[in-house]
Amino acid sequence: AEAEYRDIISNAASSDALEAARVNCLGRKGVLTELLKNLKDFTIEEKKEAGPLGNKIKKDLEDAFYSKKNALESAALNEELAKTNIDLTLPGWPVANGHKHPLTIAMDRMTAILSKLGFVWAEGPQIEEEKYNFDFLNIPLHHPARDVQDTLIIGGGAKKGMVLRSHTSNVQVRYMEKNKPPLRIMSPGKVFRRDDIDASHSPVFHQIEGLYVDKNVSLADLKSDLTAFMKGLFGNKAEVRFRPSFFPFTEPSVEVDVKCVFCDGKSPCSFCKGTGWKEMLGAGIVHPNVLRNVGIDPEIYSGYAFGMGVERLAMLMLGIKDIRAFYENDLRIWKQF
Ligand code: PHE
Repeated sequence: AEAEYRDIISNAASSDALEAARVNCLGRKGVLTELLKNLKDFTIEEKKEAGPLGNKIKKDLEDAFYSKKNALESAALNEELAKTNIDLTLPGWPVANGHKHPLTIAMDRMTAILSKLGFVWAEGPQIEEEKYNFDFLNIPLHHPARDVQDTLIIGGGAKKGMVLRSHTSNVQVRYMEKNKPPLRIMSPGKVFRRDDIDASHSPVFHQIEGLYVDKNVSLADLKSDLTAFMKGLFGNKAEVRFRPSFFPFTEPSVEVDVKCVFCDGKSPCSFCKGTGWKEMLGAGIVHPNVLRNVGIDPEIYSGYAFGMGVERLAMLMLGIKDIRAFYENDLRIWKQF
């Protein structure tokens, strides 16, 4: 019977015939299955011989079945391919791989450098209470930054006193409320201002806040850390310039410029307005009032803080002259990164 079924299987002309042979022989009610069921009535001696033999026959027939099945399937496929005109040797369609947004690429580089300088990650909310965006930062009630002209205010009612944060400096206050010095944090994120969109302005952009508070932190620490950061980002040849400035929450305050890479500083350049330098961030020594507001004694501790413009740095880093390029999702631009 084994030889008979082996013939039936190997001669099956179609996959239907093959399947029928399988059911007849190996199926639940198949000839072989029934035979194997009878084993239970055999004596132990008989079982010793018949058992392994039965299993071997079963396995041989199954092997025969599967190899026939494969043969029939590849024959069917070859027949199908012969009918159609598909050239399997042609190269396939390229699969477009996704990748990180250029701003994310730039921001990852910046936070990687900062973390090498010892800064740890901190985050704060984008919808913020006025006291964290302004009051605790020593920004008085009538400061122009609090004007509806500049800050996006969130409705009245339950949301009264809420704004879309106009800078990441809110994280300074929130972090110092909960953590005492020494501390060294970086806080990247979105900020919001009432600005019309043009080549260098957007109502939503990104900043990375930095804050370092310990004993004896000075302007010299700020200068050396920021210089190291800029050289890390733009290479050793990068030139950095510190100018005196004013922020209510730092004293003294500085603005930090980086040498423009788009021009020689003489011919008019849209990025730096022909000055040869582009302002990248505001910074300074944390104002004693800010430390006092969060219960840190300015007689014992001092700190520096900075808030850098991610888009500006990314534009210089990636050679993009128009900030709108970051938000318009033009694939012709994305493909270059
Ligand atoms: N928050 C300031 C801005 O958005 C930048 C800044 C941060 C300045 C920290 C000083 C210290 O312009």
